[in-house]
Order: sequence, then C-alpha cells, then structure tokens
Amino acid sequence: MNMRVDPADLKTRYDVQNESTKIALESTMLNPRFYTTDFDEMDRIDVTPVREEWDALIAQMKADPRRAHFKRTEDWDDIDIDAYPEELRKELVDFLISSLTAEFSGCVLYKEMKRRGSNPDICELFGYMSRDESRHASFINDALKDFGIGVNMGFLAKAKKYTYFKPKFIYYATYLSEKIGYARYITIYRHLERHPDKRIHPIFKWFKEWCNDEFSHGEAFALLMRADPKLLAGHNKLWIKFFLLAVFATMHVRDHARPEFHKAMGIDIDEYDREVFRITSEITRQVFPLELDLDNPALHERFSKMVRISNKIDEADRAGGLLGNLRKARWMGAAGLNFIALYLIPTKKNEIPQISRLEPVW
Ligand SMILES: [Fe+2]
Ligand SMILES: [Fe+2]
Repeated sequence: MNMRVDPADLKTRYDVQNESTKIALESTMLNPRFYTTDFDEMDRIDVTPVREEWDALIAQMKADPRRAHFKRTEDWDDIDIDAYPEELRKELVDFLISSLTAEFSGCVLYKEMKRRGSNPDICELFGYMSRDESRHASFINDALKDFGIGVNMGFLAKAKKYTYFKPKFIYYATYLSEKIGYARYITIYRHLERHPDKRIHPIFKWFKEWCNDEFSHGEAFALLMRADPKLLAGHNKLWIKFFLLAVFATMHVRDHARPEFHKAMGIDIDEYDREVFRITSEITRQVFPLELDLDNPALHERFSKMVRISNKIDEADRAGGLLGNLRKARWMGAAGLNFIALYLIPTKKNEIPQISRLEPVW
C-alpha cells in the first residue's frame, strides 16, 4: 500500500481528517443517520414466543465465530490507491466513509440499548451486536488510514444529530438495513470472486464473513418483530411498505452517485441493485406480510426517476442563491410526488410461513 508519510503533508492530512469527519457528520436525506428511541419501551420486549430460536441465535452470537476475522492478514493486497484517477479515489473514500458511518450508527444505537436496558435478553443481544458493529467500523477506519485519513468516531458519536424513531420504526428500518447490508456485501463479494482483477480495494475480500454478521443481526430483529406479531399486521403493513420503498430508493440513489467506483469494479449499478432488491425481498418474506412487486416495470421506472430528480436537486444545490433554492424546492416537491407514485404501486401479498435461519442461503 502506498502510504504518504511526508511530514510536509501533516497539515493537509489533519485537514483531510477533519473533512472526512465532516462528511460523516452531514445529515442529509441520503447519508446514514444516527438514531435514538424509546429505550424503556424496547426494554419491555418479551421474547418468550420465539424463545427456542432466540436462544439458538444468541448462542451463535456468544460463540463469536468471526472473532478473529477483522484483522489485516497477508490477504490484504498491496494496491497503489494513489495511482487511481481522482474521481475514483474520491468515490471509493466516500463509499468507505458512508459504510463506516452506517456501521458506527448501529454500534452507537445497540450500545445505548445495552447500557439503558435491564431486560437480560435485550442487553445480551445488543451487547453482541454493538461488539460486531464496533469491529466493522474500526476495520473500515483502519482501511481509511491508508488514504491518510480517518474518521474521529468519538467526536462523531457526540456531534452527529440523532433522529428519534419509535421502537417499531427502529425494527423496520434496522431490520431492513441489516438485511440489505447482507445482500449488498454478498453480491459485491461474489461479483469480485468472479472478477478478481476488478477488486479495487482489499477490504472486499473480507465481505463474505462480514455479511454473515449482518445476516444474523437481521435475524435478531426478525425475532423481535415476531415476538410481537401486531408489528407485522393491520395498519403497520402501511409502515412496512413505506420503509421498504424508502430503503430501496435511498440505496438506488446513493449507488448512482458513485458511477466511477462501480465502473472500476465492472458493476452495472442497475443490475447490481436489482439483484440486491431480489435477495432482500426474498429474505424479508420471513417476516413481512407483503413485498414490493419487483416484476412491475413501473417500480423500477420510478426508482430511476428518483435518481434523475436527485441529480437535479444536487445541481440546484450547487447553483445556490435564490434561484438555486427555488429550483431545489421544486425538485424536492417532485421527489415527494414520485415517492407517492411509488407508494401507490400495488405490493404482493406474502403468505409464506415465518422462519428464522442461523446461516444465509442466498
Ligand atoms: Fe456491520
Ligand atoms: Fe449489522
């Protein structure tokens, strides 16, 4: 790895570090967010209805099978990142910072649950999950050091704005982000396994084991929801649809913001996203009573439209001034209408029996 250690660069490196912490701090619609919730309500969860599966999952987490995984080994290739074109380098760093923020956001939320809780089941689960997310975030931060930058996580935890979500919204959003995280990591890993020459960073070699952590975190949320079946019925189905669309659309827009990064890996963003949607949708059948109709072309057209609108919002943002702000407001309105149109597309009913898995099969 080509590392810049020229003392003359120190001042720049300090600025770059501040800059990357700033990127991680930004709270926009698309950046990974930090959440807080009603911890007392969460502490009252009773997992008795799913006790058997719960105990099996907790035993697996306690055994900590990936304890030694998040360390650099001789598999960490010596790639000269400085030789990359500037745009690719920028998008790769942006991908790493955004992944780190998402991992760390989970770490902070889970740790807080463990700290505030008194329910032994809940405290044990969130203790293991914050342990995993902390490892993931630190591993990415370590990778960022090769670029001469790093995110100050302690500062981030204090300074980032927290969004309040009711516990049930935490379940839907976090369950989905864990499962979509699994689907993304495994899809990238498999693609690069077929095209090793396109592996632009050694961290992708770690994704296979890594995604198994995210898979089991998702399983834990599936069990929490199944322990309280009203979360998966009645008017809550409307919320489930909302979160499915919001999470899928956000991912699609975010991925399209990194064209060079995907091109360098030989990944067609639309194809990749469709595969991730497919895997996530199949997995979420384990709990959600409905799924998005991925065979409906209108759904994909609307997701693409969201990308075009998001580009317009960015353009207006860059233009600035009164005119820029007016244009931005107009395109934000268009995004809202497009989301409503997405919401009006019928979903498919899912009546497959509810199941939990210790190992992914996708
Ligand atoms: Fe993670
Ligand atoms: Fe996770």
